[in-house]
Amino acid sequence: MARKTIEIEVDEHGAFNGSELKAQGVLSYDQPLLATATARSAITYIDGEAGILRYRGYPIEQVAEQMHFLQVAALLHDGELQKDDALRDAVFGAEVDRDRIAAVVQSFPEGSHPMAILIAGFAALGASHPEAKDVKNGEMRKQFFPIVLAETLELGAQAIARHAGVKSGQADGDTYARRFVRACGGAVDTSRGDEALDVFGKALDVLFVLHADHELNAGTNAMRAIGSAETDMYSSLCGAAAALYGPLHGGANEAVLRMLTEIGSLDNVADYIERVKKHEVLLYGFGHRVYKNYDPRATVIKGVVDEVLAVAGENPLLAIAQELERIALEDEYFVSRKLYPNVDFYSGIAYRAIGFEPAAFTVLFAVARTVGWLCHYDELMSGDFKITRPAQVYIGSGARDLP
Ligand code: ACO
Repeated sequence: MARKTIEIEVDEHGAFNGSELKAQGVLSYDQPLLATATARSAITYIDGEAGILRYRGYPIEQVAEQMHFLQVAALLHDGELQKDDALRDAVFGAEVDRDRIAAVVQSFPEGSHPMAILIAGFAALGASHPEAKDVKNGEMRKQFFPIVLAETLELGAQAIARHAGVKSGQADGDTYARRFVRACGGAVDTSRGDEALDVFGKALDVLFVLHADHELNAGTNAMRAIGSAETDMYSSLCGAAAALYGPLHGGANEAVLRMLTEIGSLDNVADYIERVKKHEVLLYGFGHRVYKNYDPRATVIKGVVDEVLAVAGENPLLAIAQELERIALEDEYFVSRKLYPNVDFYSGIAYRAIGFEPAAFTVLFAVARTVGWLCHYDELMSGDFKITRPAQVYIGSGARDLP
């Protein structure tokens, strides 16, 4: 291995322009993109060491306490707090082709994973909006923001209902989350009455706020990378949702609930931790690429879990989760690696208490994250960009002739 010394100027953010490396004849091999920024973004700020998350500069704790999901969506999209509820009116008033969405959703067999349906649904919606191919048209993107959010509510809810094998319902209510709960129809336990549904709707709104954006995670990176080929926003959403689906990313909320169910009782927690430490299994809902401290969203979610369980009744899985957390936060394996609960550790318990099946959890995440994906898409399209096309380090055979 040869050593080469190069000199590179860094800017005030500690970043240098990657093309300078190329000009000096070297490449950075960085499969997980640990030290490769692919965007200059003004949307969300994270300080992973300190456990800080801000939307457009506002601390997530304040945002989660004081703002509804669509107010947050407007803030993330437009950059400033909005004085009116124009986005809410536009989303609630958007024309959504329910029948077209239903045709796609119903083409999947009952029990199909709702994330697979969601991904296909985004593609189908793209086919009905060819005008979205005019990707550089800022006015078009602005008009589509509420339309996509309204369509995603309908699509996500219908996908969840299809998986559960029940009829979806009519979106109805004064917030996006309450409308979503209603649109899920029989997939959400409505037997507890309107008051309980109100609490669930409020809890879901906070969960949506916490999931609305998270800078360049795997899903958002996919959104931007696909968008950089000047692909329309719906097709880009397919890729973003597919990246989110994986259990190392947004699929972790479903994996956490399955893990807690598999552990089954407090007596088995210590054994599970031992298996984690032997690298036999993962402690889902723990660890994060950026946070080396408690994920601030997990702290807020704990409060949401308490509120929801006060109405829905205790869930024995919560005690297992708490015991896992207690042991992990004291254990050298987790402490030395700075592994803390992430957003997915407790969110599943809240979703389950609201009445959603585990397979629905990642859809709930995706519905909220559609806001962030669209904001990043808009930010990308508003600036100068080139197609995202990484380099490779070729390790294959040299040139040879066929026999
Ligand atoms: N359980 C057990 N060990 C873990 C975990 C975990 N959840 N997370 C990380 N580690 C270990 C790794 O095995 C590694 O150990 P080693 O040094 O002995 O090899 C060390 O901690 C460092 O971890 P990395 O793999 O380098 O962390 P990375 O940043 O690449 O991965 C990730 C982050 C994917 C989130 C990882 O922590 C993980 O798999 N967590 C479980 C899945 C999960 O909860 N994902 C949701 C994340 S939040 C979100 O996307 C919404």
